[in-house]
Amino acid sequence: MTTEASTDTTLTTDAKLKAIIAEQEEIFVRRQPKSQRLAEQAKQYLAGGVTSSWQITVPQPVWLSRGRGSKVWDVDGNEYVDLHGGYGAALAGHAHPAIAKAITDQAQNGTHFAQPTPDAVTVAHELARRFGLPSWRFANSGTEATMDAVHLMRSITGRDLIIKIEGCYHGHHDSVQVSVAPEEEDAGPREKPNSAPSSSGIPKAITDLTLIATFNDLDSVARLLDEHQGQIAGMILEPVMMNAGIIKPEPGYLANLKDLLHDHGALLTFDEVKTGLTVGPGGATQLFGVQPDIVCLAKSLGGGVPCGAIGGTAEVMGAIADGRYEQVGTFNGNPLTMAAARATLTQVLTMDAYSRFDHLGRLMMDGALEALQAAGLSAYCRRFGAKGCLVFNHEPVRDYREFLEIDNAPSHLHWLVQHNNGVFLPPWGKSEQWTLSAQHDLADAERFVTNVQRFALLAAGAR
Ligand SMILES: Cc1ncc(COP(=O)(O)O)c(C=O)c1O
Repeated sequence: MTTEASTDTTLTTDAKLKAIIAEQEEIFVRRQPKSQRLAEQAKQYLAGGVTSSWQITVPQPVWLSRGRGSKVWDVDGNEYVDLHGGYGAALAGHAHPAIAKAITDQAQNGTHFAQPTPDAVTVAHELARRFGLPSWRFANSGTEATMDAVHLMRSITGRDLIIKIEGCYHGHHDSVQVSVAPEEEDAGPREKPNSAPSSSGIPKAITDLTLIATFNDLDSVARLLDEHQGQIAGMILEPVMMNAGIIKPEPGYLANLKDLLHDHGALLTFDEVKTGLTVGPGGATQLFGVQPDIVCLAKSLGGGVPCGAIGGTAEVMGAIADGRYEQVGTFNGNPLTMAAARATLTQVLTMDAYSRFDHLGRLMMDGALEALQAAGLSAYCRRFGAKGCLVFNHEPVRDYREFLEIDNAPSHLHWLVQHNNGVFLPPWGKSEQWTLSAQHDLADAERFVTNVQRFALLAAGAR
């Protein structure tokens, strides 16, 4: 279910806000001396002192020791309501008894064969039911899933070019590491965005094969299809943009996009690595009633174990079945992953879980906006199922360029205040969103709202 609401007064940021942020960062570090020591020691053996560059958070990485239910604990013993959810993968919550049992049972019977096990059929069958796409394959991450999707679109059409949306992240393979979060000076003109490499190490020859369109703008796609007649294999996008806060598709956008691409012999891939299973039982595909040619899943599908999946139409997946495209991987369909995914889908992500997401998410949204409005701060909330975020802007944005305009400082302060008061949200300020789990409860939602009240008081003091 999609909901939004907003407050309508303006938040101002200045030196006072910076001083409040510095104070909160000091509190943050003071509460976590062991994390600080580990962060220092880790630099000796781990590049940058972490295991993925996204774990480098300001003012310092948070080192966790355990998780149970809706909570995680850091190495200093501080408890947090976990709304970070391992970047959205912990939709089942932590150490869920059904998933723990499935993993333990499988671990006692072997964790890897590189041969299919019966759970793979159960998982694929359940995904087919939820997403309405008949055929599935597995991988080990979202990156692998979107890489397979891009390869498949090229394999089936015999074309090399793809279209992606400016500001969308689809993993770290070459074809999609383009215009992920470009600064204004790299992004190019709004009406003709550049294909800007998102990291060093991405060959220009590959970057040039990825053309950039604007979210919610069909004309930007039509223009590329016309300019490159018969050369575009397909387009990949998040049906709800989730790495730029949350940006929803405008009515008719997804359906018209599909028609437009098909009219030009190109395919449509929904990257539902974040949205799939979180925004509803059958992801955005089911929510908006638009079936793409390919869906990519990962994150929450594995119930906390690494996973990835692609689902597709009979035509698309036929290219795998008949060997035109070799979709391979030693750990694809790993028995531990399949056991965890089976338990996640059949025992945890039930209709009750989706009612819970909606109920708690609504309480969080209403409580937060009430507090922000009372303090005279400008913000709106976007919410889809287990996902939601507060955006500190006077009006909802509809694409990446508008998102770029939003000041990051209020979001960073909000993150710090939540963290210092026992709620773990994903870092990276305005870009990320919360993920509820099947194990969150009313007290968790209330702790979040109380912290928004704390934030509102602090931020209002900066005006
Ligand atoms: C929309 C989207 N697609 C793909 C990925 C890549 O997934 P992974 O980190 O599992 O490779 C991510 C990761 O955050 C994502 O948000």
